[in-house]
Amino acid sequence: MIAEAKKQIIKETVPVLEAHGTEITTVFYKRMFEAHPELLDIFNKTNQKVGDQPKALAMTVLAAARHIEDIETIVPAVMGIAHKHRALEVLPEHYPIVGKYLLEAIQEVLGDAATPEIIDAWGEYYGKIADVFIGIEKEMYDTAAWDGFKPFIVKKKEQVTPDIVRFTVDSDEVDKTFTAGQYITVKVNPEGYGNTALRHYSICAIDKEDGIRFAVKREAVKGREGVVSNYMHDAIEEGDALFMSAPAGDFKVEEDHDRLLFIAGGVGATPVMSMAEDAVAKGKDVKYVYSCINEDHQPFKDQMAAIREKGADLKVKFSETEGFLNKEDFKGTEDRQIYICGSMGFMGTMMKELKEMGIDESRIHFEPFGPKMSLGA
Ligand code: HEM
Repeated sequence: MIAEAKKQIIKETVPVLEAHGTEITTVFYKRMFEAHPELLDIFNKTNQKVGDQPKALAMTVLAAARHIEDIETIVPAVMGIAHKHRALEVLPEHYPIVGKYLLEAIQEVLGDAATPEIIDAWGEYYGKIADVFIGIEKEMYDTAAWDGFKPFIVKKKEQVTPDIVRFTVDSDEVDKTFTAGQYITVKVNPEGYGNTALRHYSICAIDKEDGIRFAVKREAVKGREGVVSNYMHDAIEEGDALFMSAPAGDFKVEEDHDRLLFIAGGVGATPVMSMAEDAVAKGKDVKYVYSCINEDHQPFKDQMAAIREKGADLKVKFSETEGFLNKEDFKGTEDRQIYICGSMGFMGTMMKELKEMGIDESRIHFEPFGPKMSLGA
């Protein structure tokens, strides 16, 4: 239990710390990586460079302070983060390191305003939050399909669009169990990168007889080229070994959701493809609306044709000639449970369209690709 006086200090200082959020996170990462360069083998250097990710960690600690009276209520919210941590092999011994540099950053940015009482209260509260994460992650480590990173052999590499490659990787050593919608995490050493790099890629098919299938989009946007995605496209070939940690992630169709509408844009088709295949195989009523630029950029045509044959109502819309998805595309689906995946921008537009149709938020489930899932970088 945190003493009342300390809780009060935390509540009072949250707005101040949030106002200095960017400075605190910048100082935090700089100091932590200076003292522990080995952590750059876990963190995504591209995200650090472009500044997408760095805010999330520290800002989540601050956001958790809103729940200081009932810390267990943060559990559902941290499940997705904990899945990611487990997939990256974040371990209990890493937590005090993050705590130390977070507190030092608060101290440095606030200067004299950071009294010993404030630092002490935040130190204790960080410890409580860390314990919640460590507890959840322990259970995830205990139940993961396999321990650590295991070698898989690339059996097949297929160019499914000009910028998306589908890999089929196999191993006899592990139990390839996963839930449709989950991702695997690869560990690679691209030449010139200077560190080991870990990336999450969504599993894009439920069939695993020949191995696990996942897709990688080449991130080629100027200024944020993805070293790892380019390496996966250019350097990894059939016959190569790839180290992967066990499937993770909590984006999945709830068992009692029987009438479904999947909405995906671009590479958002990856988790949705396996979710739609799974739902069709379970006899659920599936409607799937997919959007991409044009036919050349439509991935998984073989898999999409197969689910259509098995009864899924599939609609593919090409934005170049037919415009973006809108209410018209979702007419008559108001009673379905809706699962969406795409870029942050795509998700925002879809949410707006659905809300304008009067669809209750509780029926909308989503997984954004962006900082949350580094599918490209
Ligand atoms: C990602 C929170 C501790 C390593 C994240 C994300 C959040 C977060 C919100 C983003 C998740 C997403 O994008 O979906 C926290 C909190 C922590 C904590 C609140 C402490 C209580 C740690 C520790 C480590 C760590 C101890 C290891 C040293 C990472 C890494 C990522 C991540 C490597 C992925 C970021 C990237 O793209 O490089 N964390 N985290 N975290 N966290 Fe943590």
